[in-house]
Amino acid sequence: MTTASSTLLGGTWRLGDRTVTRFGYGAMQLAGPWVMGSPADRDGAIAVLREAITQGITHIDTSDAYGPRITNQLIREALHPYPESLLIATKVGANRNAEGGWPTERRPEDLRRQVRENLESLGVETLDLVNMRMGDATGPQPGSITEAFETLAELQQQGLIRHLGVSNVTAEQVAQARETAPIVCVQNMYNLAHRHDDPLIDKLADDGIAYVPFFPLGGFTPLQSAELSRVAARLGATPMAVALAWLLQRSANILLIPGTSKVAHLRENIAGAGLTLSAEDVAELDSISR
Ligand SMILES: NC(=O)c1ccc[n+]([C@@H]2O[C@H](COP(=O)([O-])OP(=O)(O)OC[C@H]3O[C@@H](n4cnc5c(N)ncnc54)[C@H](OP(=O)(O)O)[C@@H]3O)[C@@H](O)[C@H]2O)c1
Repeated sequence: MTTASSTLLGGTWRLGDRTVTRFGYGAMQLAGPWVMGSPADRDGAIAVLREAITQGITHIDTSDAYGPRITNQLIREALHPYPESLLIATKVGANRNAEGGWPTERRPEDLRRQVRENLESLGVETLDLVNMRMGDATGPQPGSITEAFETLAELQQQGLIRHLGVSNVTAEQVAQARETAPIVCVQNMYNLAHRHDDPLIDKLADDGIAYVPFFPLGGFTPLQSAELSRVAARLGATPMAVALAWLLQRSANILLIPGTSKVAHLRENIAGAGLTLSAEDVAELDSISR
């Protein structure tokens, strides 16, 4: 499969021993409604994944819980054998139930099984990056990550995982994980309107660790605010483009994984994220979370 030679806007970041584009792609929205079942437009989903690679994206985020199994199968069908430059990040720690819920599964045997399932569904011998997902659907929860992370560190030592990260975590759980094994990224909810992780982002930047915001566009409830609409109108851009450009400018260690099920939106987001925001724009956008 051919890949674009130009570097995407936002440049690159070193994730462990791999270089990835800061503009990546989150594959969760490719599954059916509420991330359950197959997409109505399977060919369209495959086209989005191939377009991401054509556009030069080298970082795709997924999980075997999406569908469940569906998103990983789509990635494999669309992109295997994978370009050498592509890093696929997956996550473990949750499964799905018949009602579409996300029950946690974090016992050592659950995590070993989930890693095996991800290896099989993605069709690889080693997973590039596995995030240990903590918390629940409402966000991070207190509690130790150590036992779960030790299990992933063992699987890494066995050669089944190349790099480790954590997701949906408190700052304390980040510190606990780092006592067990090195991490290359933290993936938490963060966007223009939800900025509780500001201090954590700055600390990780100092330590050379990536911060990968999920729901960068607001997730299931798209970002909406008068300030965002005003800045977008002033710049002649879409609110989505402004939200992504703001993240790229917020800190060099922020990697984008916006989701979409549409090729047109993917192209629009890639082009739009290259906006340059003035100090005045940023000040107005910063006021949204206050
Ligand atoms: N670690 C975790 O616990 C966790 C949790 C949630 C998500 N994630 C990861 O984070 C990634 C990003 O989150 P997300 O995909 O849920 O939310 P998101 O990126 O904030 O927003 C995606 C939504 O925005 C819409 N959208 C995208 N571009 C658009 C555009 N140009 N114009 C209008 N609408 C647009 C999409 O609809 P269309 O399909 O119509 O474009 C989709 O509904 C996921 O894909 C997943 O990989 C991780």
